[in-house]
Amino acid sequence: MAVPRRQRCHRMGICRCPPSHLISLLLFLFASETACRPSGKRPFKMQAFRIWDINQKTFYLRNNQLVAGYLQGPNTNLEEEIDVVPVEPHTMFLGIHGRKLCLACVNVGNEIRLQLEEVNITDLSRTREEDKRFTFIRSENGPTTSFESAACPGWFLCTELEADQPVSLTNTPKEAIKVTKFYFQQN
Ligand SMILES: *[C@@H]1O[C@H](CO)[C@@H](O)[C@H](O)[C@H]1NC(C)=O
Repeated sequence: MAVPRRQRCHRMGICRCPPSHLISLLLFLFASETACRPSGKRPFKMQAFRIWDINQKTFYLRNNQLVAGYLQGPNTNLEEEIDVVPVEPHTMFLGIHGRKLCLACVNVGNEIRLQLEEVNITDLSRTREEDKRFTFIRSENGPTTSFESAACPGWFLCTELEADQPVSLTNTPKEAIKVTKFYFQQN
Protein backbone atom coordinates (compact mmCIF):
# COMPACT_ATOMS: atom_id res chain seq x y z
CA MET A 1 0.00 0.00 0.00
CA ALA A 2 2.98 2.31 0.40
CA VAL A 3 3.41 2.59 -3.36
CA PRO A 4 0.56 4.46 -5.05
CA ARG A 5 -1.24 2.02 -7.33
CA ARG A 6 -0.93 4.21 -10.36
CA GLN A 7 2.86 4.10 -10.09
CA ARG A 8 2.86 0.33 -9.88
CA CYS A 9 0.73 0.07 -13.00
CA HIS A 10 2.52 2.31 -15.42
CA ARG A 11 4.46 5.50 -15.73
CA MET A 12 2.56 8.41 -17.10
CA GLY A 13 4.53 10.80 -19.24
CA ILE A 14 3.84 14.49 -19.28
CA CYS A 15 1.74 15.26 -22.31
CA ARG A 16 0.23 18.26 -23.94
CA CYS A 17 -2.41 16.56 -25.99
CA PRO A 18 -5.54 17.57 -27.86
CA PRO A 19 -8.91 16.77 -26.22
CA SER A 20 -9.46 13.53 -28.14
CA HIS A 21 -6.17 12.19 -26.86
CA LEU A 22 -7.15 13.26 -23.42
CA ILE A 23 -10.24 11.09 -23.63
CA SER A 24 -8.13 8.14 -24.75
CA LEU A 25 -5.78 8.81 -21.89
CA LEU A 26 -8.66 8.84 -19.43
CA LEU A 27 -10.02 5.60 -20.87
CA PHE A 28 -6.57 4.09 -20.63
CA LEU A 29 -6.17 5.18 -17.02
CA PHE A 30 -9.57 3.77 -16.17
CA ALA A 31 -8.78 0.47 -17.88
CA SER A 32 -5.37 0.10 -16.24
CA GLU A 33 -6.81 1.07 -12.88
CA THR A 34 -9.35 -1.73 -13.21
CA ALA A 35 -6.85 -4.23 -14.53
CA CYS A 36 -4.32 -3.52 -11.78
CA ARG A 37 -6.68 -3.89 -8.88
CA PRO A 38 -5.68 -6.99 -6.93
CA SER A 39 -8.73 -9.17 -6.51
CA GLY A 40 -10.73 -8.44 -3.38
CA LYS A 41 -8.88 -5.21 -2.68
CA ARG A 42 -10.95 -2.08 -3.04
CA PRO A 43 -9.34 0.99 -4.51
CA PHE A 44 -7.59 2.95 -1.79
CA LYS A 45 -10.01 5.81 -1.39
CA MET A 46 -10.13 6.99 2.18
CA GLN A 47 -11.80 10.23 3.14
CA ALA A 48 -12.18 12.05 6.43
CA PHE A 49 -15.59 13.19 7.60
CA ARG A 50 -16.77 15.36 10.46
CA ILE A 51 -19.64 13.80 12.37
CA TRP A 52 -22.05 15.28 14.91
CA ASP A 53 -25.50 14.20 16.00
CA ILE A 54 -28.63 16.28 15.43
CA ASN A 55 -28.26 17.60 18.99
CA GLN A 56 -24.82 18.93 18.04
CA LYS A 57 -22.80 16.43 20.07
CA THR A 58 -19.41 15.56 18.60
CA PHE A 59 -17.31 12.44 19.13
CA TYR A 60 -14.24 12.10 21.31
CA LEU A 61 -12.26 9.29 22.92
CA ARG A 62 -12.32 8.59 26.64
CA ASN A 63 -10.34 5.56 27.84
CA ASN A 64 -10.34 4.19 24.29
CA GLN A 65 -14.10 4.41 24.14
CA LEU A 66 -15.99 6.57 21.68
CA VAL A 67 -18.12 9.13 23.50
CA ALA A 68 -20.41 11.93 22.30
CA GLY A 69 -20.62 15.27 24.04
CA TYR A 70 -20.39 19.00 23.86
CA LEU A 71 -16.74 19.90 23.61
CA GLN A 72 -15.94 23.46 24.50
CA GLY A 73 -12.96 25.78 24.59
CA PRO A 74 -9.61 23.98 24.33
CA ASN A 75 -11.45 20.64 24.46
CA THR A 76 -12.76 21.16 20.93
CA ASN A 77 -9.34 19.85 19.88
CA LEU A 78 -10.36 16.43 21.21
CA GLU A 79 -13.00 16.01 18.52
CA GLU A 80 -12.46 12.85 16.49
CA GLU A 81 -13.22 12.72 12.82
CA ILE A 82 -14.22 9.59 10.98
CA ASP A 83 -12.24 7.96 8.21
CA VAL A 84 -14.40 6.35 5.57
CA VAL A 85 -13.42 3.68 3.08
CA PRO A 86 -16.25 2.78 0.69
CA VAL A 87 -17.18 -0.88 0.34
CA GLU A 88 -20.13 -0.57 -1.99
CA PRO A 89 -22.03 2.54 -3.09
CA HIS A 90 -23.90 2.82 0.22
CA THR A 91 -21.75 0.73 2.52
CA MET A 92 -18.49 1.67 4.13
CA PHE A 93 -15.89 0.97 6.76
CA LEU A 94 -15.68 3.56 9.53
CA GLY A 95 -12.50 4.30 11.45
CA ILE A 96 -11.25 6.97 13.82
CA HIS A 97 -9.31 9.46 11.74
CA GLY A 98 -5.56 8.98 11.87
CA ARG A 99 -5.79 6.17 14.41
CA LYS A 100 -5.62 2.43 14.17
CA LEU A 101 -9.20 2.07 15.43
CA CYS A 102 -12.27 0.93 13.51
CA LEU A 103 -15.92 0.71 14.48
CA ALA A 104 -17.31 -2.80 14.60
CA CYS A 105 -20.62 -4.40 15.51
CA VAL A 106 -20.10 -7.58 17.52
CA ASN A 107 -22.39 -10.07 19.19
CA VAL A 108 -21.00 -10.93 22.64
CA GLY A 109 -23.05 -13.42 24.62
CA ASN A 110 -26.28 -12.44 22.86
CA GLU A 111 -25.56 -8.78 23.33
CA ILE A 112 -24.99 -6.56 20.31
CA ARG A 113 -22.22 -4.15 20.98
CA LEU A 114 -20.30 -1.37 19.26
CA GLN A 115 -16.61 -2.00 19.59
CA LEU A 116 -13.50 -0.07 18.61
CA GLU A 117 -10.99 -2.53 17.26
CA GLU A 118 -7.30 -1.94 16.78
CA VAL A 119 -7.04 -2.34 13.06
CA ASN A 120 -5.90 -0.04 10.29
CA ILE A 121 -8.92 0.78 8.13
CA THR A 122 -6.78 0.35 5.01
CA ASP A 123 -6.19 -3.30 5.95
CA LEU A 124 -9.89 -4.21 5.95
CA SER A 125 -11.18 -6.29 3.07
CA ARG A 126 -14.65 -6.07 1.62
CA THR A 127 -14.55 -9.71 0.60
CA ARG A 128 -13.35 -11.16 3.90
CA GLU A 129 -16.37 -12.44 5.81
CA GLU A 130 -14.89 -11.64 9.23
CA ASP A 131 -14.50 -7.99 8.20
CA LYS A 132 -18.24 -7.65 7.72
CA ARG A 133 -18.55 -6.48 11.32
CA PHE A 134 -16.76 -3.27 10.27
CA THR A 135 -19.26 -2.54 7.49
CA PHE A 136 -21.98 0.05 7.90
CA ILE A 137 -24.84 0.91 5.59
CA ARG A 138 -25.31 4.60 5.17
CA SER A 139 -28.82 5.94 4.65
CA GLU A 140 -29.57 9.56 4.05
CA ASN A 141 -32.72 11.29 5.14
CA GLY A 142 -32.65 14.90 4.02
CA PRO A 143 -29.54 16.47 5.52
CA THR A 144 -29.01 13.71 8.08
CA THR A 145 -27.38 10.32 7.86
CA SER A 146 -27.89 7.07 9.76
CA PHE A 147 -25.55 4.11 9.94
CA GLU A 148 -26.87 0.57 10.15
CA SER A 149 -24.53 -2.31 10.85
CA ALA A 150 -24.28 -4.72 7.93
CA ALA A 151 -23.37 -7.58 10.26
CA CYS A 152 -26.18 -6.82 12.73
CA PRO A 153 -29.18 -5.81 10.57
CA GLY A 154 -31.59 -3.44 12.32
CA TRP A 155 -28.91 -2.06 14.64
CA PHE A 156 -28.02 1.60 14.18
CA LEU A 157 -25.17 3.74 15.41
CA CYS A 158 -26.49 6.01 18.17
CA THR A 159 -25.73 8.47 20.89
CA GLU A 160 -27.58 9.05 24.14
CA LEU A 161 -29.59 12.20 24.78
CA GLU A 162 -27.33 12.81 27.75
CA ALA A 163 -23.86 14.21 27.02
CA ASP A 164 -20.58 12.35 27.56
CA GLN A 165 -22.09 8.88 27.19
CA PRO A 166 -20.65 6.15 24.97
CA VAL A 167 -21.59 5.96 21.31
CA SER A 168 -23.38 2.63 20.86
CA LEU A 169 -25.92 0.75 18.77
CA THR A 170 -29.70 0.57 19.06
CA ASN A 171 -32.34 -1.62 17.42
CA THR A 172 -35.11 0.87 18.21
CA PRO A 173 -33.98 3.81 16.12
CA LYS A 174 -37.47 5.31 16.02
CA GLU A 175 -37.63 5.78 19.78
CA ALA A 176 -36.68 9.22 20.98
CA ILE A 177 -34.44 7.96 23.77
CA LYS A 178 -31.51 7.53 21.38
CA VAL A 179 -30.14 9.71 18.63
CA THR A 180 -29.48 7.93 15.36
CA LYS A 181 -29.41 10.91 13.02
CA PHE A 182 -26.08 12.50 12.29
CA TYR A 183 -24.66 15.23 10.20
CA PHE A 184 -21.83 13.76 8.21
CA GLN A 185 -19.71 16.18 6.27
CA GLN A 186 -16.69 15.48 4.17
CA ASN A 187 -13.61 17.40 5.20
C1 LIG B 1 -2.56 2.61 7.88
O1 LIG B 1 -1.92 2.02 6.77
C2 LIG B 1 -1.55 2.95 5.76
C3 LIG B 1 -1.03 2.16 4.56
O2 LIG B 1 -0.07 1.24 4.97
C4 LIG B 1 -0.54 3.94 6.33
O3 LIG B 1 -0.19 4.88 5.35
C5 LIG B 1 -1.16 4.64 7.53
O4 LIG B 1 -0.22 5.49 8.14
C6 LIG B 1 -1.67 3.64 8.55
N1 LIG B 1 -2.42 4.35 9.56
C7 LIG B 1 -2.18 4.25 10.87
C8 LIG B 1 -3.01 5.09 11.76
O5 LIG B 1 -1.35 3.48 11.33
